[in-house]
Amino acid sequence: MLRRSLLALLPLIGVAFSQSASQFTDPVTGFQFTGLTDPVHDVTYGFVFPPLVTSGNQSTEFIGEVVAPIEAQWIGIALGGEMIGDLLLVAWPNGNEIVSSTRWATDYIQPIAYTGQATLTTLSETKVNSTHWQWVFRCQGCTEWNNGEGIDVTSEGVLAWAFSNVAVDDPSDAESTFSEHTDFGFFGIDYSSAHSSNYQNYLAGNAGNPTTTSSTPTSTSSSTSTGPTASATPYDYIVVGAGPGGIISADRLSQAGKKVLLLERGGPSTQETGGTYVAPWAEGSGLTKFDIPGLFESLFTDPDDFWWCKDVTVFAGCLVGGGTSVNGALYWYPNTQDFSSSVGWPSSWENHTPYTSMVQARLPSTDHPSTDGERYLEQTFGVMSQLLSGQGYSNITINDNPNYKDHVYGYSSFDFLNGKRAGPVATYLQTALARPNFTFKQNVMVSNVVRNGSQILGVQTNDTTLGPNGFIPLTTNGRVVLSGGAFGTSRILFQSGIGPTDMLQIVQGSSTAAAALPPQDQWIDLPVGYNAQDNPSINLVFTHPSVDAYENWADVWSDPRPADAAQYLENQSGVFASASPRVNFWRAYSGSDGFTRYAQGTVRPGASLPLNTSLSYNSSQLFTITVYLSTGIQSRGRVGIDAALRGTVLTAPWLVNADDKTVILQALNDVISNMDSVPGLTLVVPDNTLTMEEYVNEYDPSTMNSNHWVSTTTIGSSAQNAVVDENAKVFNTNNLFVVDAGIIPHLPTGNPQGTLMSAAEHAVANILALAGGP
Ligand SMILES: Cc1cc2nc3c(=O)[nH]c(=O)nc-3n(C[C@H](O)[C@H](O)[C@H](O)COP(=O)(O)OP(=O)(O)OC[C@H]3O[C@@H](n4cnc5c(N)ncnc54)[C@H](O)[C@@H]3O)c2cc1C
Ligand SMILES: *[C@@H]1O[C@H](CO)[C@@H](O)[C@H](O)[C@H]1NC(C)=O
Ligand SMILES: *[C@@H]1O[C@H](CO)[C@@H](O)[C@H](O)[C@H]1NC(C)=O
Ligand SMILES: *[C@@H]1O[C@H](CO)[C@@H](O)[C@H](O)[C@H]1NC(C)=O
Ligand SMILES: *[C@@H]1O[C@H](CO)[C@@H](O)[C@H](O)[C@H]1NC(C)=O
Ligand SMILES: *[C@@H]1O[C@H](CO)[C@@H](O)[C@H](O)[C@H]1NC(C)=O
Ligand SMILES: *[C@@H]1O[C@H](CO)[C@@H](O)[C@H](O)[C@H]1NC(C)=O
Ligand SMILES: *[C@@H]1O[C@H](CO)[C@@H](O)[C@H](O)[C@H]1NC(C)=O
Ligand SMILES: *[C@@H]1O[C@H](CO)[C@@H](O)[C@H](O)[C@H]1NC(C)=O
Ligand SMILES: *[C@@H]1O[C@H](CO)[C@@H](O)[C@H](O)[C@H]1NC(C)=O
Repeated sequence: MLRRSLLALLPLIGVAFSQSASQFTDPVTGFQFTGLTDPVHDVTYGFVFPPLVTSGNQSTEFIGEVVAPIEAQWIGIALGGEMIGDLLLVAWPNGNEIVSSTRWATDYIQPIAYTGQATLTTLSETKVNSTHWQWVFRCQGCTEWNNGEGIDVTSEGVLAWAFSNVAVDDPSDAESTFSEHTDFGFFGIDYSSAHSSNYQNYLAGNAGNPTTTSSTPTSTSSSTSTGPTASATPYDYIVVGAGPGGIISADRLSQAGKKVLLLERGGPSTQETGGTYVAPWAEGSGLTKFDIPGLFESLFTDPDDFWWCKDVTVFAGCLVGGGTSVNGALYWYPNTQDFSSSVGWPSSWENHTPYTSMVQARLPSTDHPSTDGERYLEQTFGVMSQLLSGQGYSNITINDNPNYKDHVYGYSSFDFLNGKRAGPVATYLQTALARPNFTFKQNVMVSNVVRNGSQILGVQTNDTTLGPNGFIPLTTNGRVVLSGGAFGTSRILFQSGIGPTDMLQIVQGSSTAAAALPPQDQWIDLPVGYNAQDNPSINLVFTHPSVDAYENWADVWSDPRPADAAQYLENQSGVFASASPRVNFWRAYSGSDGFTRYAQGTVRPGASLPLNTSLSYNSSQLFTITVYLSTGIQSRGRVGIDAALRGTVLTAPWLVNADDKTVILQALNDVISNMDSVPGLTLVVPDNTLTMEEYVNEYDPSTMNSNHWVSTTTIGSSAQNAVVDENAKVFNTNNLFVVDAGIIPHLPTGNPQGTLMSAAEHAVANILALAGGP
């Protein structure tokens, strides 16, 4: 955001350079750079590139340094020599650390975060002392930018620097705003002579003599290139991903006496897991954003959103608990139809009752999460009850009647316990952690499984303390269970040479991942990423004079209603003991194509502002009905990876089937059909300028996303139509399994986590029963 003045580096067309870079050796690190020291501010800029290669893992990176006197409050580098349309690097000291970021500008205004693929890693030579700060960094993916331009590392170029003696607005925040530089300049550089055969040594922290040890690191940043190497412990089962699929799998496998390693790329979530992200008003209680149900809506408005996977282009939780630590926690026990062979389950899966019972025993649902048993902020229930009873709906306790999903409504049901987020983290993970056979490692990223044809040998991680070069082996007959979620597991499979050829070719073209890809004659062609489903969801926004919109949840993190905050802190009761939904309802529709489809409604006080409406409204009285289409839906899409290896939607799955669209339109019209019978009820979105049909037609498909991805590694009968068999084993492998939402062949009737947990219980029981394992 532009806070103060314009930043104005001039474009450089036709400028002659009085300064140009030359080679020098940094006196402290011994690294040889090409660059210069600006004589006015006494700031040194240096660059060194890997040996010249035009493709492969290091073709787009370099190591750079900035050595600046302490008066320099921030320093910027423009890699194309001008401010607009080239990659900008900005850094400043914050205490003993250097805070840095990649930026981009499309005008002479405050540059914003660069959204392309560039990774800055602060190297261990970085330091701050009483007179200077020295930032030594690796910049990967930095010579090619997402506008198609870049640095030609074989020829000459221009660099620009920016200097400021005015501190940035929030030195602790890498994305901080700042005012215009107080000085700037340019210099020419011959990149063709800036390549060094010592580059790998530099990355490893030594100045060029492989036998010498690196200078003592004083930086607080973590470097990926160093770190002790340990001899690896083999495991019977390595489970990748601590979401619901992975946690339930790891718990049951360790309970059966197997030696189990659970690897999670993210870090702590709830207080119980060591999480520390606590709202200002809850300090002292230790209850985190992830514990307190009433903070759910604040997950989507908080700029410090470390919990989302940054390499997946839709919402996905990258922390202990995966989606279940950041989701709305709506929790429905599955019904008969959710596991029917008519929606793609093998017939041996139709009797889900034993597995669902196991889940219920470990994690019962509640529709009154406040510890005092009372319900709070329930005005929408009264309004919906008038509206829906007029449409022939019955008021039921939903999880007492899982099979009853036509013309029913009731209180929203959650996987909260004791007024706090619970889910698999508070239950299954805790029993696993108590077992000596169970090992849990966080902040460990698995890139791929390592295999010899169909035999998986272990997993490749980024943590060299767990095994030589980060490789962790299996015991004889050992097995790997992938539970990385619909996007995470798909990417691991692609990077392991398993999936459609087009995705594997992307890996082959990746500078970071190609080396680990098995040779093409070992590729396993499976429809990974195909068949993807997610509930299309469309919001209707209303006002009613009885409704308390709760400030549209905008104040819950920093400025809650004091009495509600106090009540929650003292008793884990009140408004904060629940997430935002209050009412759910379902109705069945028969489509002209013969499929019965279910529409689900989720009702919450408040709405996402600003509203797109021409009507005036009272924002204190807003509520939202989200209408989803679930079981019976025929639309499917495809997920995969982009060139930067980000998990992404390749073909949108929302309302691509014409009957799906007809049914959701019908459901939306039905919801409002008797509005006039509820005094004071006013529809605000869509407004009176749009018919419901126009509203649906104009609805941005990407905002129909419900984050309920299933079927991307679907269970099924053959490698032609599915990725895993009825034992959750990946086709054409001996010992690789998937247990996560991806194996579910069709969207369940309600939000998916209940069905997923039951499916995980069933899958892990099958895996344990399958001969040939440890
Ligand atoms: C914002 C949001 C709201 C939702 N609301 C609801 C709701 O109210 N009710 C409901 O039923 N469902 C809801 N869902 C969906 C539900 O949370 C998911 O269906 C469920 O979490 C999927 O579980 P999973 O085990 O398949 O994967 P995930 O929960 O995605 O877990 C995967 C885990 O694997 C880790 N991982 C991934 N790749 C790697 C790797 N390479 N190496 C190591 N670790 C890795 C991730 O960090 C993550 O912890 C919501 C989802 C989101 C995102
Ligand atoms: C990248 O390339 C360098 C130089 O060829 C090599 O030493 C290094 O091991 C490679 N890294 C990976 C991860 O393949
Ligand atoms: C501080 O660091 C700079 C840059 O590395 C170095 O030149 C200088 O000698 C150091 N000063 C002190 C007092 O250590
Ligand atoms: C698992 O733990 C149990 C005791 O909890 C022990 O008897 C068993 O030998 C262990 N198995 C493995 C494979 O370590
Ligand atoms: C709906 O059912 C619940 C539980 O059975 C009951 O407490 C509530 O009063 C009912 N509400 C209406 C409006 O029927
Ligand atoms: C491995 O990756 C995870 C997730 O990105 C990260 O948090 C962790 O710091 C990485 N570990 C190392 C040693 O680089
Ligand atoms: C790979 O498997 C084949 C048999 O399938 C075996 O002959 C070979 O030794 C294995 N290679 C390794 C490195 O394990
Ligand atoms: C907590 O619960 C107790 C017992 O019901 C009650 O007396 C007290 O007022 C509650 N505290 C708050 C802050 O609501
Ligand atoms: C607002 O709604 C109109 C239709 O009335 C639509 O064309 C427009 O794209 C919407 N704007 C936004 C920002 O969603
Ligand atoms: C808006 O709604 C609030 C809460 O119901 C009410 O107190 C207020 O008077 C309303 N404002 C107007 C302008 O009607």
